[in-house]
Amino acid sequence: MTDPSATPASGGDVRLTGISKTYGSFTAVQPLDLYVPAGSFFALLGASGCGKTTTLRMIAGLEEPTSGIVRLADEDITALPPHKRPVNTVFQSYALFPHLDIFENVAFGLRRRGVKSVKKQVEEMLELVQLGDFARRRPQQLSGGQQQRVAVARALINHPRVLLLDEPLGALDLKLRRQMQLELKRIQTEVGITFIHVTHDQEEAMTMADTVAVMNGGRVEQRGAPADLYENPGTTFVANFLGTSNLIEAEITDKSGGDLVLAAAGGKLSLPADRCSAPVRTGGKLLVGVRPEKITLTHAEDAGTIPDGRNRITGRIADSSFIGVSTQYLITTPDCPEITVYEQNIERDARLVPGAEVVLHWNPAHTFGLDATQDIDAGTELDEEAP
Ligand SMILES: Nc1ncnc2c1ncn2[C@@H]1O[C@H](COP(=O)(O)OP(=O)(O)O)[C@@H](O)[C@H]1O
Ligand SMILES: [Mg+2]
Repeated sequence: MTDPSATPASGGDVRLTGISKTYGSFTAVQPLDLYVPAGSFFALLGASGCGKTTTLRMIAGLEEPTSGIVRLADEDITALPPHKRPVNTVFQSYALFPHLDIFENVAFGLRRRGVKSVKKQVEEMLELVQLGDFARRRPQQLSGGQQQRVAVARALINHPRVLLLDEPLGALDLKLRRQMQLELKRIQTEVGITFIHVTHDQEEAMTMADTVAVMNGGRVEQRGAPADLYENPGTTFVANFLGTSNLIEAEITDKSGGDLVLAAAGGKLSLPADRCSAPVRTGGKLLVGVRPEKITLTHAEDAGTIPDGRNRITGRIADSSFIGVSTQYLITTPDCPEITVYEQNIERDARLVPGAEVVLHWNPAHTFGLDATQDIDAGTELDEEAP
């Protein structure tokens, strides 16, 4: 874009300090500290009702915090009314003006501010969202995804330093949503401003964001790069909400080496000490986790072929479902809950059918350890509640 104010190199970092929101006796957002670096694509991820929208609205100025400070580029904007903040919001219900064409919908913010020549800016914005050919159509003549892109253009033309997106893709069907995720990511890379994106869809958050903050019950449980959160969940909620985790109760039997030795699932498992976020003492309890795709299944008859040094559990296949790229197995074992395993469909062992006895094994480096005082099922069913 040619307008220098359109691509602020800096000044788009958001810092929340002790921000909270209480409605009567109900606390929607617990005192929260959050830093969003300028130019990042930041996702607030959590189940419905966890406080995402409230947090976003406090950044926009649409909701007054009960406590705390909102800063933009180190400036305290807590008391600034919404229209004075260099922040725009895109909602799920994009509410375009039905009687105006796409060009005028996008031009709206400029005209309201009394900008005389809007043509060049609007055209650039329509190019950015790849709707240059649709300028003279009405919103109802566009698909849902196209309308959502108009909403993004309409917000970006105001040159906000921060764009807030509240479940903007929630109304779109799955394929279109996947397409729009990549599209939004491209737009963000192109304009370079800070995007704060709220979603309950963990895949969406991981696809788009460079940093994800996982919220639960009005708190941020953990934040980090998607791969880091996925590989190193710090709580059972994050382990279960972000993808799927197998969590197994374990007791520490030896902590003298670099790897903790654990009694679990009727056998012995190793856990690298630096992969354990819980306090460690011999005889203490832990929850050990391993992701389903890290586990290999070997038929019990071939158990001798499994290399030494791998964590292993024996069990029996209770169920298998073929889902194209992979097969999902549910394995029952004598001493722990059902274990989920994803095997890529490369060379399928025809013996791996329900009833078969198997050995589950994985590299100990893919094991993580969590504090056993937490609810082992936290975050497992919340996905379903989301709208
Ligand atoms: N104006 C309000 N009055 C009372 N409770 C509210 C109000 N707005 C939100 N809440 C409650 O605060 C919680 C968090 O809401 P919200 O931030 O919208 O969650 P999310 O966007 O994560 O789904 C919910 O339990 C919701 O019912
Ligand atoms: Mg919401």
